[in-house]
Amino acid sequence: MARLGALICLRVAIVVLLPSLLATVSVAHNDTGVHKNYLIIVRKPYEYDQNVYKTVSSWHASLLASVCDTAKEELAADPGAETRLIYSYRNVVNGFCARVTRDEVFEMTKKDWFVKAIPEKTYKLMTTYTPQMIGLTGPAALHGGVWNRSNMGEGMIIGVLDDGIAAGHPSFDAAGMGPPPAKWKGRCDFNSSVCNNKLIGARSFYESARWKWRGIDDPVLPVNETAHGTHTSSTAAGNFVPGANTMGNGIGTAAGMAPRAHLALYQVCFQDKGCDRDDILAAMDDAVDEGVDVLSISLGDDEAGEFAGDPVALGGYTAIMKGVFVSTSAGNNGPNPSTVSNEAPWLLTVAASTTDRKFVATVKLGSGVELDGEALYQPPNFPSTQWPLVGDTGGDGTCSDERLLKKEHVAGKLVVCDQGGNLTGLEKGSFLHKAGAAGMVLIGPEFMGSVVQPKPHILPVAQIVYSSGKKLKAYMKSTKSPTAALIYQGTVFGNPMTPAVAPFSSRGPSKQNQGILKPDITGPGVNIIAGVPGPQGLATPPNPLAAKFDIMSGTSMSAPHLSGIAALIKKAHPKWSPAAIKSAMMTTADTMDRRRKPITDQDGHKADLFGLGAGFVNPTKAMNPGLVYDLSAADYVPYLCGLGYSDHEVNSIIHPSPPVSCKRLPAVDQKDLNYPSITAFLDREPYAVNVSRAVTNVGRGKAVYAAKVEMPRTVSVTVTPDTLKFKKLNQVKKFTVTIRGANGRMKDDVAEGQLKWVSPDNVVRTPIVVSSKKFFKDNTTSDHARH
Ligand SMILES: *[C@@H]1O[C@H](CO)[C@@H](O)[C@H](O)[C@H]1NC(C)=O
Ligand SMILES: *[C@@H]1O[C@H](CO)[C@@H](O)[C@H](O)[C@H]1NC(C)=O
Ligand SMILES: *[C@@H]1O[C@H](CO)[C@@H](O)[C@H](O)[C@H]1NC(C)=O
Ligand SMILES: *[C@@H]1O[C@H](CO)[C@@H](O)[C@H](O)[C@H]1NC(C)=O
Ligand SMILES: *[C@@H]1O[C@H](CO)[C@@H](O)[C@H](O)[C@H]1NC(C)=O
Ligand SMILES: *[C@@H]1O[C@H](CO)[C@@H](O)[C@H](O)[C@H]1NC(C)=O
Ligand SMILES: *[C@@H]1O[C@H](CO)[C@@H](O)[C@H](O)[C@H]1NC(C)=O
Repeated sequence: MARLGALICLRVAIVVLLPSLLATVSVAHNDTGVHKNYLIIVRKPYEYDQNVYKTVSSWHASLLASVCDTAKEELAADPGAETRLIYSYRNVVNGFCARVTRDEVFEMTKKDWFVKAIPEKTYKLMTTYTPQMIGLTGPAALHGGVWNRSNMGEGMIIGVLDDGIAAGHPSFDAAGMGPPPAKWKGRCDFNSSVCNNKLIGARSFYESARWKWRGIDDPVLPVNETAHGTHTSSTAAGNFVPGANTMGNGIGTAAGMAPRAHLALYQVCFQDKGCDRDDILAAMDDAVDEGVDVLSISLGDDEAGEFAGDPVALGGYTAIMKGVFVSTSAGNNGPNPSTVSNEAPWLLTVAASTTDRKFVATVKLGSGVELDGEALYQPPNFPSTQWPLVGDTGGDGTCSDERLLKKEHVAGKLVVCDQGGNLTGLEKGSFLHKAGAAGMVLIGPEFMGSVVQPKPHILPVAQIVYSSGKKLKAYMKSTKSPTAALIYQGTVFGNPMTPAVAPFSSRGPSKQNQGILKPDITGPGVNIIAGVPGPQGLATPPNPLAAKFDIMSGTSMSAPHLSGIAALIKKAHPKWSPAAIKSAMMTTADTMDRRRKPITDQDGHKADLFGLGAGFVNPTKAMNPGLVYDLSAADYVPYLCGLGYSDHEVNSIIHPSPPVSCKRLPAVDQKDLNYPSITAFLDREPYAVNVSRAVTNVGRGKAVYAAKVEMPRTVSVTVTPDTLKFKKLNQVKKFTVTIRGANGRMKDDVAEGQLKWVSPDNVVRTPIVVSSKKFFKDNTTSDHARH
């Protein structure tokens, strides 16, 4: 990607342009002054004349100039529109981002180089103890374990697309870090006192978004905005910080997943402005050139769009072509089905789960009943007094009307509030504190099930789940003068029902490719402690480091865990493709929780594959998966054709690979993409499908694997051959999985199970989803449908 200074349409355009000017005369003044940012996709091959145009950007500039509306009054009305060419992309897409009017777009549609103009779009961010929880630390990890075998990711570069970063934060200290590898071509725009061997890259991409806040200084430095980027970066590759804590809780040594990896922060999101699509593309365009090994992307779009218009899918494809692993957030729109974002099969789509840590605060009712909740701020020596318990007197229960939170109602009392209404929990706490309340019991919403997200409140609080709230309210009704005490128990580890899929974590099936199970995998994403720029809540931090760490939840938090783990695997196995790394993570993921029972949802039921994906990441096992399902970038091309994408769309995605024609490619059905999970539809005669797969031996040279299938009785699954004998490393063996309804047609249902390839050393697990019907209507047209 190259940024141009100003392309002044007036000057460049005049010579080239007379014919089209004449053509547009009838519409030239419609939309006067209305310039908008568009992503303009151009036809390939772009065999621009290199004698005339020295660079791709000068060629793009000439294309743009050929349609620029030269009406003077337009530029007078919108002088900023002179800077028309915003980005000229080199890698991620064959095209450019420009500020143009609708008329100019209309002019472009007549040009032979024009493919598509996509109007501007905004994406959004989806919002330390975890290394121990997933087995990265401890003597075993250091002596022969994950951190030992990967040297903690030393020399790997993780690129993070996010909002800003708090350079100088202790998590980004360079202690123990060597210099970046010679291949690194990026730059760090902070001064030399904060850029170091840990934070080797830091840039801000705002050229497209800047039109949204004209008049304000350009955000040239990627400074922290909402603490999000600091949190995700330190989760992926934060250095060791002894004594890290948040509000005095969770004391321990904080570290990212790959504490010796380097970080490059690409700011593409800005407070209140979101993340501009064309800035995201620009950052990815540069990142793939600058030499990152892993991209960590905790942003996305709620309305998952088709891959040819989505910056993460477009940039992600270019990334994997260059061997860069891309870890993305599944989204926070769960638990409703089909809410998953970042669904392209070349991306790792990460769901979020709970961790086994709780900051326990018990509400002890006057009746003696104890209800366990959580509190981040746990005041020392808080008396175990029974306080009078009151509700939101006169309000709707949410304590959202400040006028009702009067001294005479609340002073010296514990006030019970439902989450919701038009105040945040922190604001309610603040008003109650002002009115002299002894404390607050905050009841979570029903959909959050067993999950509490404790916040740093200014007064003593217990946050309890919805079901406990019902018990508490029943008790309050049962007596004239209800009372309760708050008992703080500090940080408690070892909750046996962990991990559990977070209620907010977006669920499959995937709208854009229903034949691929998404999300792929689950990582820790509830109440994650990681670095932040400064105090985030209202309560005064009990110690200076407490202000530097905070709790956040979201698939934004789970994706960087997987980014760091990918860097560890890549360090240990430098030759593995992004698909091989993904396969290693997915086929070794855990499906059982601490009780050795199936991982649950927020409501305690067994989590389905659309919530959990292949399972909860197990980095120790992922280092040595035995077999991998490998895919090259080229393998996705016939797959895209099979999905129903036009040649233009396919070619936009696979750019800068040479263009293809789908008609000339072998057809690859979704089910047959060599993916580490299997989705099959038994929606038509003969209610049977053959699914082909190939596995590569990355374990011992000589190995024998036997197939073991676990499936409900409604479905019959056979594997041919059912034994795979490998003679050497990197040998590839094909097999076919035949899936049919056990009694002919399957009844309307979705069945879940798994195929395991078992050797004495490894269990290679592949989740299987079988549905009696398609989840969505297919959009393959007759041109492309080739079954
Ligand atoms: C501008 O042009 C579009 C079609 O290009 C038309 O639909 C619209 O009504 C026009 N607006 C005005 C104000 O003339
Ligand atoms: C890895 O483990 C081996 C064997 O215990 C040990 O000799 C080596 O020092 C460890 N390396 C690191 C980086 O901890
Ligand atoms: C470097 O930047 C940091 C943070 O922006 C600032 O505190 C410091 O004064 C700067 N140092 C120099 C030498 O400019
Ligand atoms: C960083 O974030 C904190 C908290 O949001 C804010 O107080 C501070 O001003 C921010 N710093 C910069 C340089 O934007
Ligand atoms: C396929 O259909 C879905 C749902 O109707 C839509 O969101 C998606 O963009 C379509 N994909 C293509 C390639 O047309
Ligand atoms: C929201 O706030 C307004 C005024 O601040 C208040 O009138 C209204 O009742 C509040 N809504 C709820 C649900 O409490
Ligand atoms: C699956 O493959 C077997 C063996 O090649 C073949 O006999 C059978 O017809 C195939 N079934 C389907 C549904 O394609």
